Amino acid sequence: MTLASERFPRSSRYDPDWIVAGASGGANPLWLTEWLTEAMALRAGMRVLDLGCGRGLSSIFLHEEFGVQVWSTDLWFSVDERARRIHDAGLDDAVFPIHADARALPFAAGFFDAIVSIDSFVYYGTDDLYLGYLARFLRPGGQLGIAGAGLVREIDGPVPDHLAAWWEPSMSCLHSAAWWRRHWERSGAVEVESADTMTDGWRRWLDWQHAASPDNGVEIEALTADQGRYLGYVRAVARRDDRALDEPIVSVPVSYAERPVFRDQPPS
Ligand SMILES: C[S@@+](CC[C@H](N)C(=O)[O-])C[C@H]1O[C@@H](n2cnc3c(N)ncnc32)[C@H](O)[C@@H]1O
Repeated sequence: MTLASERFPRSSRYDPDWIVAGASGGANPLWLTEWLTEAMALRAGMRVLDLGCGRGLSSIFLHEEFGVQVWSTDLWFSVDERARRIHDAGLDDAVFPIHADARALPFAAGFFDAIVSIDSFVYYGTDDLYLGYLARFLRPGGQLGIAGAGLVREIDGPVPDHLAAWWEPSMSCLHSAAWWRRHWERSGAVEVESADTMTDGWRRWLDWQHAASPDNGVEIEALTADQGRYLGYVRAVARRDDRALDEPIVSVPVSYAERPVFRDQPPS
């Protein structure tokens, strides 16, 4: 297994055994992070939230490649295991492991210069209200970028026969670049800069499956049968502008007023 690719020169510097040993999903996080950051403007010293970072490979990559500080944040995977990987990479002072839910983030408003999310945003970001919540953590002018498995075009109607054996109901969260553009534009929270699909993304998805999960026959067969008609990698980048964003509602103050429940009930 080499995982080396002319398409991804930055990712090709990393040891394939290190990549596979730290994999947390069905995609190569370094390929997706390299692709996403080609559409972003990261500069050394920036504060970056890596949201849904899994076991932290993308967080280490972001620091190594761009010199940014990274808040490496995830829900499902052990923060302790990630901390060891970060420590062994010599990055204790630059990549900070955090265990948190994307819907309840422990950060100050306007703290981040950029937010990236690799193969994760679909798990929470399809909520119409979510982008308004997340954008508050960006400084005005800061960028949000997402990249991950998605659709080349939306599936209108039943799931195509060639995908049926692989498909699960939760995959309804997969969407096309055009869907994400519209979803973000409607939020009124950001200016969308780009939304597109990786050229031959399905082939890269398949390459990764063959390298990292060769026994995953159902997914390999679905990708092979699909030939990029529906499945691929999707990327979207937006920028927070100067618009003020609503504070999240965490409580509504009320005081109790005694009243009879029924019209003909005598006062007590
Ligand atoms: C398919 S994995 C991808 C992980 C990693 N970014 C990668 O590409 O290898 C999806 C990730 O999304 C994270 N995730 C899902 N829901 C989340 C939530 N509500 N808050 C934070 N992370 C979440 C999971 O913890 C998981 O690590």
